[in-house]
Amino acid sequence: MSTESLRKDHLLIEKVLKSMQVTLELLRSGKKIPESILVPVVDFSKNFTDVCHHGKEEESLFPALERAGMPRHMGPIAVMLMEHQVTKQIVQRMDASSKEYLRSGSSEQLVHDISDYIEHVSAHLWKENNRLFVMAEMRLQGLTEEITAQLDDVESKKLIQLGKTRADYEKMTDDLEQNISKLN
Ligand SMILES: [Fe+2]
Ligand SMILES: [Fe+2]
Repeated sequence: MSTESLRKDHLLIEKVLKSMQVTLELLRSGKKIPESILVPVVDFSKNFTDVCHHGKEEESLFPALERAGMPRHMGPIAVMLMEHQVTKQIVQRMDASSKEYLRSGSSEQLVHDISDYIEHVSAHLWKENNRLFVMAEMRLQGLTEEITAQLDDVESKKLIQLGKTRADYEKMTDDLEQNISKLN
């Protein structure tokens, strides 16, 4: 399946979204959330999701779909590209509001930004999993090996650029889950 590697990324992203949902509920109930949770949430969203995962889609999957006849400036690819931009903007806001929260303890903006992020990214992943990737799997039949190799290449390039390995991000998601369960 040409989108297997991207679907695997989605599972990792969804795991972080779950941790963010717990964080959100704790913040709303007035619990203090430490830096050791907020820093990896922002790091993962900014780097793994935005740079690495969106990079794989934008530099490998979407161009392959364009070559297969899907337009870039309208339809599903255009919507996904626009949503990646919105994701980036929400992360920038969440980065600022988490710093502000750690400095002042004021959680209002952070609650708003985390909630926005979860809602936007969950809907985006759903559209890709159930619409775009299903179309891609049909249109890119026979190209699975080529696309998989390209996705792996972009992933390695992005991870080198970030100075991290995939295992680092997998560990980050596990640690987040555990650290949040300790706060509960
Ligand atoms: Fe995407
Ligand atoms: Fe995606």
